[in-house]
Amino acid sequence: MSASNTSPRKAWKVNASIVAKRTSNPIRAIVDHIKVKPNANKSMISLALGDPTLFGNFKIHESCTEAVSKQLHSYKSNGYPPSTGYLEARQTVAEKFTIPEAPLTAQDVIVTSGCSGAIDMCIGVLCNEGDNILLPRPGFSLYQTVADSKGVEVRYYDLLPEHNWEMDLKQLESLIDDRTATVVMNNPSNPCGSVFRKQHLLDFLAVCERNHLPVIADEIYCDLVFSGNEFFPLASLTKTVPVLSVGGLAKKYLVPGWRLGWIFIHDRNNIFDAEVRDGLNSLSQLILGPNSLIQASLKDILHNTDPAFHTETCAQLEANAKLSTDILSKIPGLKVIVPQGAMYVMIAINVQEFKDITNDIVFTEKLLGEESVMCLPGSVFQCPNFIRIVFTSPPNILEEAYNRMAEFCARHHV
Ligand SMILES: Cc1ncc(COP(=O)(O)O)c(C=O)c1O
Repeated sequence: MSASNTSPRKAWKVNASIVAKRTSNPIRAIVDHIKVKPNANKSMISLALGDPTLFGNFKIHESCTEAVSKQLHSYKSNGYPPSTGYLEARQTVAEKFTIPEAPLTAQDVIVTSGCSGAIDMCIGVLCNEGDNILLPRPGFSLYQTVADSKGVEVRYYDLLPEHNWEMDLKQLESLIDDRTATVVMNNPSNPCGSVFRKQHLLDFLAVCERNHLPVIADEIYCDLVFSGNEFFPLASLTKTVPVLSVGGLAKKYLVPGWRLGWIFIHDRNNIFDAEVRDGLNSLSQLILGPNSLIQASLKDILHNTDPAFHTETCAQLEANAKLSTDILSKIPGLKVIVPQGAMYVMIAINVQEFKDITNDIVFTEKLLGEESVMCLPGSVFQCPNFIRIVFTSPPNILEEAYNRMAEFCARHHV
């Protein structure tokens, strides 16, 4: 063994890695700087967290509870599952989500630790350090966090509020170069609450086709759409563009804490066969997917949840969306972009109409300080002068929050 010629260490100095230092969540970076305290005389109402379980008004279906309870008491699902998930879980998911236009078998499904785990693996398998990735603006902030962490350059393409937040496809295409590894699209959208038209998705796919660009389609809010809108899985609209679709139980089944997500490998022309399937397999070995009990419960969850449960969830969300739009669109200084699905609404703040509100962060801080209402400033989604509201709270709480917002806006209006 050759002796090291470096001098011995004389003191403790333990640095965090470069990867750790370049990993940061834009939401925390902005929200943690809000030092304003809520108004102690008013009850706190948070419209900031995309977690439908917070108030107990969105109830999970009993099939979910029963399925997990059954597995727990069977003592059969306490061991390590395979890294890509139990075969039965992958099979069940494939059977549930396969459609003739976008067929799936168990081999095309990987179960992951939440949809977040799926996003991490998909970006990880397609992008090298120094490549670039196209992300939506406004968009879910985890995409940037993962890309930054892996040393992947982020290029934002715009979503256009005046066109129901559709993608600016011209601008998107202008960002592509030979280091562009993939594009992330999200439909229905967090934070926009938008649902893309079929023709828009076809136009997007045409751009990807022309540029030989594989897609990561984040469809975690699949089917959470309101009347007059329809959800089209991206992969069902192409026979040529390879698509990794990500999703999970979190939103549609209202169990975000169960951390059960998935990747669907849609690849009609075996483009991913050369390396990407193996790559995903390798990445799945870093951390063993979701909890064995939830994986083993998937069959019962997916088979036994009454379709009426999803219809009712959508109806409840739609009623809250309508209530939100009705009240908020009457407040001078605010402009609501009417949501079409998911659980979010983006509201433009017309800062010129306010005496002392110069941007979305000031709006958020003052609203919290004066009215104890918390929402997220659009800046955390790269979209200044908007705020995002999560409308999953019970209607009476939403009404209370919006009435306080109306008073707040009236006080600050010119
Ligand atoms: C668009 C989008 N993708 C992915 C996720 C992450 O889902 P999960 O909680 O299953 O990790 C979320 C969570 O809010 C989301 O809004």
